[in-house]
Amino acid sequence: MQDVEPIVARAFAEFACSADAAQLENAKARFLGKSGELTALLKSLAALAPAERKSAGALVNAAKERIEAALAARREAIASAGLEARLAEEALDVTLPGRRRGRGGIHPLIRSWQRVEAIFRSIGFDVADGPEIETDWYNFTALNNPENHPARSMQDTFYVDVSDEHGQPLLLRTHTSPMQVRYARMWVERFRDAAQVPPIKVIVPGRCYRVDSDATHSPMFHQVEGLWIDENISFADLKGVYTDFLRRFFESDDLAVRFRPSFFPFTEPSAEIDVAFQSGPLEGKWLEISGAGQVHPDVVRNFGLDAEHYIGFAFGSGIERLTMLRYGINDLRLFFDGDLRFLKQFS
Ligand code: PHE
Repeated sequence: MQDVEPIVARAFAEFACSADAAQLENAKARFLGKSGELTALLKSLAALAPAERKSAGALVNAAKERIEAALAARREAIASAGLEARLAEEALDVTLPGRRRGRGGIHPLIRSWQRVEAIFRSIGFDVADGPEIETDWYNFTALNNPENHPARSMQDTFYVDVSDEHGQPLLLRTHTSPMQVRYARMWVERFRDAAQVPPIKVIVPGRCYRVDSDATHSPMFHQVEGLWIDENISFADLKGVYTDFLRRFFESDDLAVRFRPSFFPFTEPSAEIDVAFQSGPLEGKWLEISGAGQVHPDVVRNFGLDAEHYIGFAFGSGIERLTMLRYGINDLRLFFDGDLRFLKQFS
Protein backbone atom coordinates (compact mmCIF):
# COMPACT_ATOMS: atom_id res chain seq x y z
CA MET A 1 0.00 0.00 0.00
CA GLN A 2 1.02 3.60 -0.66
CA ASP A 3 2.71 5.34 2.30
CA VAL A 4 0.27 7.62 4.22
CA GLU A 5 2.81 10.00 5.74
CA PRO A 6 3.45 12.10 2.59
CA ILE A 7 -0.32 12.52 2.17
CA VAL A 8 -0.69 13.69 5.78
CA ALA A 9 2.25 16.07 5.34
CA ARG A 10 0.77 17.53 2.16
CA ALA A 11 -2.66 17.93 3.79
CA PHE A 12 -1.13 19.77 6.75
CA ALA A 13 0.80 22.07 4.39
CA GLU A 14 -2.23 22.86 2.25
CA PHE A 15 -4.43 23.54 5.25
CA ALA A 16 -1.79 25.82 6.70
CA CYS A 17 -1.58 27.93 3.58
CA SER A 18 -5.34 28.19 3.07
CA ALA A 19 -6.04 31.84 3.79
CA ASP A 20 -9.82 31.65 4.14
CA ALA A 21 -12.68 29.21 4.66
CA ALA A 22 -13.28 28.66 0.93
CA GLN A 23 -9.66 27.71 0.22
CA LEU A 24 -9.68 25.44 3.25
CA GLU A 25 -12.81 23.61 2.09
CA ASN A 26 -11.23 23.06 -1.33
CA ALA A 27 -8.13 21.64 0.31
CA LYS A 28 -10.30 19.39 2.45
CA ALA A 29 -11.99 18.01 -0.69
CA ARG A 30 -8.61 17.13 -2.18
CA PHE A 31 -7.87 14.79 0.74
CA LEU A 32 -11.15 13.77 2.35
CA GLY A 33 -13.63 14.36 -0.47
CA LYS A 34 -15.24 11.63 -2.61
CA SER A 35 -12.26 11.52 -4.91
CA GLY A 36 -9.78 12.76 -2.33
CA GLU A 37 -6.36 11.19 -1.91
CA LEU A 38 -7.12 9.62 1.47
CA THR A 39 -10.52 8.38 0.30
CA ALA A 40 -8.79 6.67 -2.62
CA LEU A 41 -6.38 5.02 -0.23
CA LEU A 42 -9.26 3.78 1.94
CA LYS A 43 -10.93 2.31 -1.14
CA SER A 44 -7.71 0.53 -2.11
CA LEU A 45 -7.79 -1.38 1.18
CA ALA A 46 -10.46 -3.63 -0.28
CA ALA A 47 -7.89 -5.11 -2.65
CA LEU A 48 -5.58 -6.17 0.17
CA ALA A 49 -5.33 -9.55 1.81
CA PRO A 50 -7.36 -9.71 5.06
CA ALA A 51 -4.27 -9.88 7.30
CA GLU A 52 -2.63 -6.92 5.67
CA ARG A 53 -5.92 -4.99 5.43
CA LYS A 54 -6.27 -4.82 9.21
CA SER A 55 -2.97 -3.13 9.93
CA ALA A 56 -3.17 -0.94 6.82
CA GLY A 57 -6.73 0.08 7.77
CA ALA A 58 -5.57 1.11 11.23
CA LEU A 59 -2.81 3.24 9.67
CA VAL A 60 -5.13 4.97 7.22
CA ASN A 61 -7.74 5.64 9.91
CA ALA A 62 -5.14 7.15 12.21
CA ALA A 63 -3.97 9.36 9.32
CA LYS A 64 -7.57 10.39 8.61
CA GLU A 65 -8.08 11.38 12.25
CA ARG A 66 -4.93 13.51 12.21
CA ILE A 67 -5.99 15.21 8.99
CA GLU A 68 -9.47 15.87 10.38
CA ALA A 69 -8.01 17.28 13.58
CA ALA A 70 -5.70 19.55 11.57
CA LEU A 71 -8.67 20.65 9.48
CA ALA A 72 -10.76 21.49 12.56
CA ALA A 73 -7.89 23.42 14.10
CA ARG A 74 -7.36 25.41 10.91
CA ARG A 75 -11.09 26.13 10.58
CA GLU A 76 -11.12 27.55 14.06
CA ALA A 77 -7.99 29.61 13.40
CA ILE A 78 -9.46 31.10 10.23
CA ALA A 79 -12.77 31.90 11.96
CA SER A 80 -11.12 33.62 14.88
CA ALA A 81 -8.75 35.56 12.60
CA GLY A 82 -11.83 36.82 10.73
CA LEU A 83 -13.41 37.92 13.98
CA GLU A 84 -10.23 39.68 15.06
CA ALA A 85 -10.08 41.49 11.76
CA ARG A 86 -13.69 42.65 12.05
CA LEU A 87 -13.18 43.78 15.62
CA ALA A 88 -10.11 45.74 14.60
CA GLU A 89 -11.94 47.28 11.66
CA GLU A 90 -15.00 48.27 13.64
CA ALA A 91 -13.01 49.38 16.67
CA LEU A 92 -14.36 52.41 18.45
CA ASP A 93 -11.81 54.74 20.00
CA VAL A 94 -13.68 55.82 23.09
CA THR A 95 -10.86 58.20 24.04
CA LEU A 96 -11.46 60.33 20.91
CA PRO A 97 -13.08 63.68 21.83
CA GLY A 98 -16.68 63.92 20.64
CA ARG A 99 -17.68 66.09 17.72
CA ARG A 100 -19.70 68.90 19.21
CA ARG A 101 -22.00 71.27 17.50
CA GLY A 102 -20.43 74.74 17.64
CA ARG A 103 -22.13 76.94 20.20
CA GLY A 104 -23.52 80.21 18.98
CA GLY A 105 -22.60 83.41 20.74
CA ILE A 106 -24.15 86.79 21.22
CA HIS A 107 -22.84 89.44 18.85
CA PRO A 108 -20.96 92.22 20.68
CA LEU A 109 -23.42 94.84 19.41
CA ILE A 110 -26.36 92.84 20.71
CA ARG A 111 -24.54 92.48 24.02
CA SER A 112 -24.38 96.27 24.25
CA TRP A 113 -28.00 96.54 23.14
CA GLN A 114 -29.06 94.18 25.94
CA ARG A 115 -26.87 95.99 28.43
CA VAL A 116 -28.39 99.37 27.52
CA GLU A 117 -31.88 97.89 27.88
CA ALA A 118 -31.10 96.42 31.29
CA ILE A 119 -29.71 99.69 32.62
CA PHE A 120 -32.62 101.82 31.42
CA ARG A 121 -35.22 99.26 32.48
CA SER A 122 -33.75 99.40 35.98
CA ILE A 123 -34.62 103.09 36.17
CA GLY A 124 -38.15 102.69 34.84
CA PHE A 125 -37.80 103.16 31.09
CA ASP A 126 -40.02 101.16 28.75
CA VAL A 127 -38.30 99.51 25.76
CA ALA A 128 -39.95 99.81 22.34
CA ASP A 129 -39.09 99.13 18.75
CA GLY A 130 -40.38 100.50 15.50
CA PRO A 131 -40.21 100.22 11.71
CA GLU A 132 -36.92 100.46 9.86
CA ILE A 133 -38.79 101.53 6.72
CA GLU A 134 -40.16 104.89 7.79
CA THR A 135 -42.19 107.68 6.26
CA ASP A 136 -40.56 110.93 5.36
CA TRP A 137 -42.94 112.60 7.81
CA TYR A 138 -41.86 110.65 10.90
CA ASN A 139 -38.19 110.62 9.98
CA PHE A 140 -37.91 114.32 9.09
CA THR A 141 -41.00 116.55 9.02
CA ALA A 142 -42.40 115.67 12.45
CA LEU A 143 -38.91 116.24 13.86
CA ASN A 144 -38.84 119.80 12.62
CA ASN A 145 -36.45 119.13 9.75
CA PRO A 146 -37.05 121.84 7.15
CA GLU A 147 -37.92 120.71 3.62
CA ASN A 148 -34.50 121.70 2.32
CA HIS A 149 -32.44 120.18 5.13
CA PRO A 150 -29.35 118.42 3.68
CA ALA A 151 -30.09 115.22 5.63
CA ARG A 152 -33.12 114.77 3.40
CA SER A 153 -30.98 114.57 0.28
CA MET A 154 -30.42 111.37 -1.66
CA GLN A 155 -26.74 111.59 -0.75
CA ASP A 156 -27.49 110.90 2.88
CA THR A 157 -30.68 108.89 2.87
CA PHE A 158 -31.74 105.62 1.29
CA TYR A 159 -35.14 106.19 -0.26
CA VAL A 160 -37.44 103.29 -1.02
CA ASP A 161 -38.91 103.20 -4.53
CA VAL A 162 -42.50 102.84 -3.37
CA SER A 163 -44.60 105.28 -1.32
CA ASP A 164 -46.96 104.36 1.49
CA GLU A 165 -50.75 104.19 1.11
CA HIS A 166 -51.06 107.98 1.56
CA GLY A 167 -48.51 108.67 -1.16
CA GLN A 168 -45.89 109.49 1.49
CA PRO A 169 -42.29 108.91 0.41
CA LEU A 170 -40.72 105.96 2.24
CA LEU A 171 -37.11 105.70 3.33
CA LEU A 172 -34.83 103.65 5.56
CA ARG A 173 -34.85 105.55 8.84
CA THR A 174 -31.68 107.57 9.26
CA HIS A 175 -31.97 107.61 13.07
CA THR A 176 -34.20 106.19 15.80
CA SER A 177 -35.69 109.64 16.51
CA PRO A 178 -38.88 109.02 14.45
CA MET A 179 -39.80 106.61 17.21
CA GLN A 180 -40.02 109.54 19.63
CA VAL A 181 -43.04 110.69 17.65
CA ARG A 182 -44.54 107.26 16.98
CA TYR A 183 -44.24 106.17 20.59
CA ALA A 184 -45.49 109.47 22.06
CA ARG A 185 -48.52 109.55 19.72
CA MET A 186 -49.36 105.95 20.57
CA TRP A 187 -49.04 106.82 24.26
CA VAL A 188 -51.18 109.96 24.03
CA GLU A 189 -53.81 108.01 22.09
CA ARG A 190 -53.84 105.27 24.71
CA PHE A 191 -54.53 107.77 27.52
CA ARG A 192 -56.88 109.95 25.47
CA ASP A 193 -59.74 109.48 27.96
CA ALA A 194 -57.59 109.75 31.09
CA ALA A 195 -57.56 112.95 33.15
CA GLN A 196 -53.88 113.23 32.48
CA VAL A 197 -51.28 111.64 30.18
CA PRO A 198 -48.75 109.77 32.35
CA PRO A 199 -45.04 110.44 31.81
CA ILE A 200 -43.47 109.09 28.63
CA LYS A 201 -40.28 107.26 29.49
CA VAL A 202 -38.90 105.00 26.80
CA ILE A 203 -35.79 103.85 25.02
CA VAL A 204 -35.81 102.54 21.45
CA PRO A 205 -32.80 100.54 20.30
CA GLY A 206 -32.69 99.63 16.64
CA ARG A 207 -31.11 99.64 13.22
CA CYS A 208 -30.67 102.78 11.14
CA TYR A 209 -29.34 103.43 7.64
CA ARG A 210 -27.35 106.16 5.96
CA VAL A 211 -25.40 106.44 2.72
CA ASP A 212 -22.06 106.34 4.44
CA SER A 213 -19.28 103.77 4.56
CA ASP A 214 -15.74 103.89 5.95
CA ALA A 215 -13.78 102.71 9.01
CA THR A 216 -16.07 104.59 11.36
CA HIS A 217 -19.34 104.55 9.38
CA SER A 218 -21.46 101.69 8.13
CA PRO A 219 -24.54 102.05 5.86
CA MET A 220 -26.41 100.07 8.52
CA PHE A 221 -25.78 100.91 12.15
CA HIS A 222 -27.48 100.86 15.52
CA GLN A 223 -28.78 103.61 17.72
CA VAL A 224 -30.66 103.79 20.94
CA GLU A 225 -33.14 106.61 21.32
CA GLY A 226 -34.20 107.82 24.73
CA LEU A 227 -37.22 109.97 25.56
CA TRP A 228 -38.52 111.22 28.89
CA ILE A 229 -41.44 113.64 28.80
CA ASP A 230 -43.40 114.87 31.79
CA GLU A 231 -44.42 118.22 33.23
CA ASN A 232 -41.01 119.13 34.55
CA ILE A 233 -38.22 117.03 33.08
CA SER A 234 -35.23 119.32 32.68
CA PHE A 235 -31.82 119.39 31.09
CA ALA A 236 -30.46 118.64 34.59
CA ASP A 237 -32.41 115.35 34.51
CA LEU A 238 -30.82 114.54 31.14
CA LYS A 239 -27.37 115.17 32.60
CA GLY A 240 -28.08 113.05 35.67
CA VAL A 241 -29.71 110.14 33.85
CA TYR A 242 -27.20 110.02 31.01
CA THR A 243 -24.10 110.40 33.17
CA ASP A 244 -25.36 107.63 35.44
CA PHE A 245 -26.06 105.46 32.40
CA LEU A 246 -22.53 105.94 31.03
CA ARG A 247 -20.90 105.14 34.37
CA ARG A 248 -22.92 101.96 34.63
CA PHE A 249 -22.41 101.00 31.00
CA PHE A 250 -18.62 101.37 31.20
CA GLU A 251 -18.49 100.17 34.83
CA SER A 252 -16.39 103.14 35.72
CA ASP A 253 -17.10 105.86 38.26
CA ASP A 254 -14.38 108.17 37.10
CA LEU A 255 -15.61 108.79 33.59
CA ALA A 256 -15.66 112.42 32.58
CA VAL A 257 -18.86 113.42 30.78
CA ARG A 258 -19.21 116.65 28.80
CA PHE A 259 -22.30 118.27 27.28
CA ARG A 260 -21.13 120.34 24.34
CA PRO A 261 -23.56 122.84 22.77
CA SER A 262 -24.78 121.64 19.38
CA PHE A 263 -27.76 121.81 17.05
CA PHE A 264 -30.56 119.44 16.12
CA PRO A 265 -33.82 120.71 14.63
CA PHE A 266 -35.84 118.60 17.08
CA THR A 267 -34.18 119.69 20.34
CA GLU A 268 -33.64 123.09 21.92
CA PRO A 269 -31.20 123.51 23.53
CA SER A 270 -29.18 120.73 21.95
CA ALA A 271 -25.96 119.10 23.01
CA GLU A 272 -23.49 116.53 21.95
CA ILE A 273 -22.40 114.26 24.78
CA ASP A 274 -18.72 113.36 24.99
CA VAL A 275 -16.97 110.98 27.36
CA ALA A 276 -13.36 110.73 28.41
CA PHE A 277 -11.80 107.81 30.25
CA GLN A 278 -9.45 108.61 33.15
CA SER A 279 -7.26 105.58 32.43
CA GLY A 280 -6.58 103.03 29.72
CA PRO A 281 -5.45 103.51 26.13
CA LEU A 282 -7.98 106.30 25.44
CA GLU A 283 -7.15 108.24 28.62
CA GLY A 284 -8.11 111.88 28.47
CA LYS A 285 -9.46 111.77 24.91
CA TRP A 286 -12.96 113.22 24.40
CA LEU A 287 -15.17 110.92 22.35
CA GLU A 288 -18.61 111.78 21.06
CA ILE A 289 -21.22 109.27 22.08
CA SER A 290 -24.62 110.86 21.69
CA GLY A 291 -26.80 113.70 20.46
CA ALA A 292 -29.30 115.02 22.96
CA GLY A 293 -31.36 117.96 24.15
CA GLN A 294 -34.67 119.27 25.42
CA VAL A 295 -37.39 118.22 22.99
CA HIS A 296 -38.39 121.17 20.78
CA PRO A 297 -41.93 122.52 21.49
CA ASP A 298 -42.92 121.93 17.84
CA VAL A 299 -42.03 118.25 18.27
CA VAL A 300 -43.95 118.08 21.57
CA ARG A 301 -46.96 119.40 19.65
CA ASN A 302 -46.44 116.67 17.05
CA PHE A 303 -46.62 114.20 19.94
CA GLY A 304 -50.17 115.49 20.44
CA LEU A 305 -49.27 117.18 23.72
CA ASP A 306 -49.58 120.73 24.97
CA ALA A 307 -46.07 122.17 24.69
CA GLU A 308 -46.88 124.62 27.50
CA HIS A 309 -47.29 121.74 29.94
CA TYR A 310 -45.10 118.94 28.70
CA ILE A 311 -41.36 119.10 28.46
CA GLY A 312 -38.50 116.68 28.59
CA PHE A 313 -35.36 115.39 27.00
CA ALA A 314 -34.35 113.05 24.21
CA PHE A 315 -31.05 111.49 23.29
CA GLY A 316 -29.76 109.28 20.52
CA SER A 317 -26.62 107.21 21.03
CA GLY A 318 -24.58 105.10 18.68
CA ILE A 319 -24.46 101.49 19.85
CA GLU A 320 -21.39 100.77 17.67
CA ARG A 321 -19.56 103.63 19.32
CA LEU A 322 -20.51 102.48 22.83
CA THR A 323 -19.36 98.95 21.99
CA MET A 324 -16.07 100.04 20.40
CA LEU A 325 -15.20 102.06 23.47
CA ARG A 326 -16.20 99.35 25.91
CA TYR A 327 -14.11 96.65 24.22
CA GLY A 328 -11.37 98.75 22.63
CA ILE A 329 -12.35 97.92 19.03
CA ASN A 330 -10.87 100.31 16.48
CA ASP A 331 -12.60 99.40 13.21
CA LEU A 332 -16.36 99.38 12.98
CA ARG A 333 -16.35 97.08 9.95
CA LEU A 334 -15.26 94.20 12.21
CA PHE A 335 -18.83 94.09 13.54
CA PHE A 336 -20.27 93.21 10.14
CA ASP A 337 -17.57 91.04 8.51
CA GLY A 338 -18.76 87.88 10.25
CA ASP A 339 -15.17 86.85 11.03
CA LEU A 340 -15.41 84.15 13.70
CA ARG A 341 -11.92 84.95 15.01
CA PHE A 342 -13.29 88.33 16.02
CA LEU A 343 -16.76 87.24 17.11
CA LYS A 344 -15.59 84.30 19.23
CA GLN A 345 -13.83 86.68 21.59
CA PHE A 346 -17.22 87.82 22.83
CA SER A 347 -19.07 84.52 23.14
N1 PHE B 1 -31.10 111.64 15.95
C1 PHE B 1 -29.86 112.34 16.19
C2 PHE B 1 -28.79 111.75 15.28
O1 PHE B 1 -28.97 110.69 14.74
C3 PHE B 1 -29.42 112.21 17.62
C4 PHE B 1 -30.34 112.87 18.59
C5 PHE B 1 -31.37 112.14 19.17
C6 PHE B 1 -30.17 114.19 18.93
C7 PHE B 1 -32.22 112.74 20.08
C8 PHE B 1 -31.00 114.80 19.87
C9 PHE B 1 -32.01 114.09 20.42
O2 PHE B 1 -27.75 112.34 15.08
